[in-house]
Amino acid sequence: MSTPSTPSTPPPGGTWALGDLTVTRFGYGAMQLAGPKVMGPPADRDGALAVLREAARLGITHIDTAGAYGPRVTNRLIREALHPYPESLHIVTKVGATRDEEGGWPPARRPEDLRRAVHENLEDLGIDALDVVDLRLGDAQGPVPGSLAEAFEALVDLQRQGLIRHLGVSNATAEQVAEARSIAPIVCVQNMYNLAHRHDDGLIDELAEQGIAYVPFFPLGGFTPLQSTALSAVAARLDATPMSVALAWLLRRSPNILLIPGTSSVAHLRENVAGAGLPLSGEDLAELDKIGR
Ligand SMILES: NC(=O)c1ccc[n+]([C@@H]2O[C@H](COP(=O)([O-])OP(=O)(O)OC[C@H]3O[C@@H](n4cnc5c(N)ncnc54)[C@H](OP(=O)(O)O)[C@@H]3O)[C@@H](O)[C@H]2O)c1
Repeated sequence: MSTPSTPSTPPPGGTWALGDLTVTRFGYGAMQLAGPKVMGPPADRDGALAVLREAARLGITHIDTAGAYGPRVTNRLIREALHPYPESLHIVTKVGATRDEEGGWPPARRPEDLRRAVHENLEDLGIDALDVVDLRLGDAQGPVPGSLAEAFEALVDLQRQGLIRHLGVSNATAEQVAEARSIAPIVCVQNMYNLAHRHDDGLIDELAEQGIAYVPFFPLGGFTPLQSTALSAVAARLDATPMSVALAWLLRRSPNILLIPGTSSVAHLRENVAGAGLPLSGEDLAELDKIGR
């Protein structure tokens, strides 16, 4: 039942099933809540907590996080803002990278690293089992080919122990996605993708046929906001922001795409939720489709 402060309209895009967990296709990515370069605490701690509470109030039931954000900062903020969690809320976390003193993201994918990371996520989020854990592969430049078997099998083992409900992979090549699926079922793939970076088009369509979610990170361009003349032209014609158009396009691109745009601002969060419902015509879609081709 709606409370006076709960919007009566759910976020645009409807819902998607991550295994037996139903989430809104419009989710929230928590990385931007940590300090500069995703290190340390946020400058505005109350503001960060307010963003998380607003996400829940807006009806968002999918939050994306990682122990490496901060590190261990965003998970603790999520706990402080939202624990005890509503039954409908599902948190997806990632393991497989750590942080160094320069703010780099070195891999941490030995079985003992992954076990430690899973236990830290459980502790920081204040739960007994993680809804979804993505094995984060590659490096900061993108996916790197190579077998994921040893690392993924370590997570499967933790899943068998009841510490993880569902598995996914992130920053992965199509071959690594296939290798993971040959070992155990996955519910999602989280890779970089947006209007201007379309290298995963084929993979998205293949995953859609298999009922597996594709979760684009950097949906708005990440640290370098999306810029495109065609995007600005469509946005101007619709009297909308380029961010809204970029998110609305992703929702239309494929039903298995889940959005996790990041923001540290309540105003931007509201704007993004409202904007992603923007109706796009066939003409708009055709024009936008050319950007990343
Ligand atoms: N698997 C991986 O390797 C990986 C890598 C990177 C990210 N991720 C996940 O993906 C999520 C999304 O990525 P992201 O947050 O880095 O990038 P993003 O969603 O593409 O963009 C976030 C940036 O856009 C700005 N922004 C958001 N809404 C805006 C608006 N309405 N108007 C103007 N600016 C706006 C934010 O600034 P403000 O804070 O000022 O709004 C922030 O700088 C992350 O939160 C994280 O959970 C995963």
